Amino acid sequence: MLLGTQQIGENGHLYIGGCDTVELANRFGTPLYVMDESALRTTMRAYRAAFEDAYPSTEFYFASKSFLCIAMAVIVEQEGYHMDVASLGELFTALEAGFPPERLALHGNNKSVDELEAAVAAGIGHVIVDNFYELNMLKSIMQGRPVTMKIMIRATPGVDPQTHRLIRTGQADTKFGFNIKDGSALKAVKESLASDSLQFIGVHCHVGSQLLESDTHVQAAQVMAQLLLDIRKETGVIVENLNIGGGLGVRYSETDVPPAYHEFAAAVVQPLKEALEKEGVPLPTLQQEPGRSITGEAGTTLYQVGAVKRVPIDEEGGTRLYASIDGGLSDNPRPQLYQANYSCLLANRAQQPADTHVRVAGKHCETDILIQDTLLPEPASGDILAVQTTGAYNFAMASNYNRFLRPAVVLVNDGEADVIVERQTLADLLRGEHIPSRLLHIPVER
Ligand SMILES: Cc1ncc(COP(=O)(O)O)c(C=O)c1O
Repeated sequence: MLLGTQQIGENGHLYIGGCDTVELANRFGTPLYVMDESALRTTMRAYRAAFEDAYPSTEFYFASKSFLCIAMAVIVEQEGYHMDVASLGELFTALEAGFPPERLALHGNNKSVDELEAAVAAGIGHVIVDNFYELNMLKSIMQGRPVTMKIMIRATPGVDPQTHRLIRTGQADTKFGFNIKDGSALKAVKESLASDSLQFIGVHCHVGSQLLESDTHVQAAQVMAQLLLDIRKETGVIVENLNIGGGLGVRYSETDVPPAYHEFAAAVVQPLKEALEKEGVPLPTLQQEPGRSITGEAGTTLYQVGAVKRVPIDEEGGTRLYASIDGGLSDNPRPQLYQANYSCLLANRAQQPADTHVRVAGKHCETDILIQDTLLPEPASGDILAVQTTGAYNFAMASNYNRFLRPAVVLVNDGEADVIVERQTLADLLRGEHIPSRLLHIPVER
């Protein structure tokens, strides 16, 4: 499986964005996140084009939680997307990148006063309100100000997607949003409408992530269309905006087959148009909030293979080949968190037959297995392993576990490679650490 601009060169090496990945590994070190700029831009354009064809008015919010750094925010801005941020850090990054604040939306199920005040001070486009506690907090923050804050109400449609339990959000039993069935969503809309300091602009839902079929989004669109009708009936208000979240899946392996964008768009808008047109209610602007589907396949992580060993695994003479790499859990926690499966190839021998079963082991002090079983040319120490589809929720979820340094991120395009996030240094690791002076005065007992 080759994704985005990935190609195998005449020298048998994997190329991304016209760059030889073996050279990238030598030049920038490993582990290394490689982001394919052309793949990012192509996907953003294709996603938008599909929805614009299917629906008169659409707006795209990039879900920055999937991958955000200053350069990414610049690309998102250039592509004409809006952006959703879900923390002070994401907001700060977007603003530092010069992202227009009016194109930002703030998410979160437990926003702090600091986050809300920073969002208000920056003049962001709107806040997606998640609960009554937040609704009241925002009202009091806005009280006495000469401006109002635009808000959307995040509703829980009560649909249950077929995906890993940790990335489901649309079911009733969730921490996110106002339940629709028990009347909370409608009550929140009414309270927003009654407020002088808030301006209700629409409703939002998100059902889950890595969804490989459109069914759950279609069900959510049906439920949300009914909510729009109920809001109209109860309050007389025609809802201007409906955000149906992100969630479209990506190819982690050849067996992951997400729907084509135009199929997805057609499936999602159909129930909405049908329900609203039947009642003569004007259609809202349809917002989408994709993260993984924009960034996932655009990312590849390069590792160097170190120890390779074959171990006996049963009494019948069965063995397993372990290839250990110079990263793992700290740069990609998803296999341990979600049992996520990844595809990989040897970047320096990409044309050789993949005929050997290999378990790819990370180097952290856990059962840190990055890939349980994959086929590769028989690996040797020094090979460069390219793990695909790591653009989403890898760099974003990276940690310093075992005091590993966070890898650099390189953006490649047309044969050029630029560091957009530097590799952490040992000095970075200790930045902000202190030894209280009283510890230095405790006599050491030996
Ligand atoms: C509210 C919200 N919007 C958008 C997204 C992005 O989802 P995805 O990366 O699957 O497209 C998420 C992810 O969990 C989310 O919680």
